[in-house]
Amino acid sequence: MKRSLSGIQPSGILHLGNYFGAIDQFVTMQDDYEGFYFVADYHSLTSLTKPEDLRENTKNIILDYLSLGLNPEKSTLFLQSDVPEHVELYWLLCNVAPVGLLERAHSYKDKLAKGFTPNMGLFNYPALMAADILIYDADVVPVGKDQKQHLEMTRDIAAKFNQQYEVDFFKLPDPLIMDKVAVVPGTDGQKMSKSYGNTIQMFAPKKQLKQQVMSIVTDSTPLEEPKNPDNNIAKLYALFANIEKQNEMKEKFLAGNYGYGHAKTELLNAILEYFGNAREKREELAQNTKYVEEILQEGARKARAIASKKVQEAKEIVGLLGNIYR
Ligand code: ADP
Ligand code: TRP
Repeated sequence: MKRSLSGIQPSGILHLGNYFGAIDQFVTMQDDYEGFYFVADYHSLTSLTKPEDLRENTKNIILDYLSLGLNPEKSTLFLQSDVPEHVELYWLLCNVAPVGLLERAHSYKDKLAKGFTPNMGLFNYPALMAADILIYDADVVPVGKDQKQHLEMTRDIAAKFNQQYEVDFFKLPDPLIMDKVAVVPGTDGQKMSKSYGNTIQMFAPKKQLKQQVMSIVTDSTPLEEPKNPDNNIAKLYALFANIEKQNEMKEKFLAGNYGYGHAKTELLNAILEYFGNAREKREELAQNTKYVEEILQEGARKARAIASKKVQEAKEIVGLLGNIYR
């Protein structure tokens, strides 16, 4: 069975972009791939500075994973920081990753452009991500389109290591990006992102969810006039509705006398219905911390068994003595 691996940073509350761009794939792939899905908590230190936020977000993501359908019987679910071997491999990779390659990372450049004072963690982010992936010999990495470049960098770093040490040691992983959901738009029409304040959060309390949906930006076409059927609301609605329903909404927009407020209500109802079961399941799981903790411990154990072996081999390849004298 091929191996699939992916992670999400606990840098905020998960949203429709994270679900459709990433988690939905993790869930549908569960029967056909050996899955490894983790919470990238080390990565989130590049943006989070409050320990309580990190703890809170991490607990939330695990509950999100489980209630959205990740099944611990089928996939290995764990916290990145429970497998410190990722960081050990990261250091080896730092020594083959060219600075010029890391300097070209869009996510890094975007943060610089926004006036962020970068630390080494942010700069080296793609090298840690490469370690996350290469340490498990992952075949595929399901992600949203924004991660494509990071995956290319992972392949570059893996190839460089193999070449430098004349080994065929790291497997070059393929990204898995679903076209339909490659970029889920946010309430302002830009990419939905935790860092842009434009998210719709599937597990927000109903009142807050409604506010998020109602805040979708639209133009000021009067109620009675026809409207562009390709607006933000319709794009989000398409994630939930079948083709007939999508066409119905488009026709109503074209016909006029159908306001953006009406469409938002339809979207809100579609979201509540789609995530209804998951919302219930999440409430139950939130009461059962012991069960969740056990899943994480078991996940970490399984992940560590693989990761520590790979790191040991990597250390020997680069000439660290490792076990030789023991
Ligand atoms: P964010 O931009 O909100 O911080 P992350 O960088 O943590 O999101 O992304 C976690 C996963 O969700 C990644 O696989 C990413 O590609 C995917 N993802 C995030 N936002 C979107 C979006 N708007 N559309 C599609 N996929 C997304
Ligand atoms: N960089 C990814 C993101 O922001 C999170 C991540 C960290 C990841 N390590 C990974 C994704 C390994 C896939 C595989 O979304």
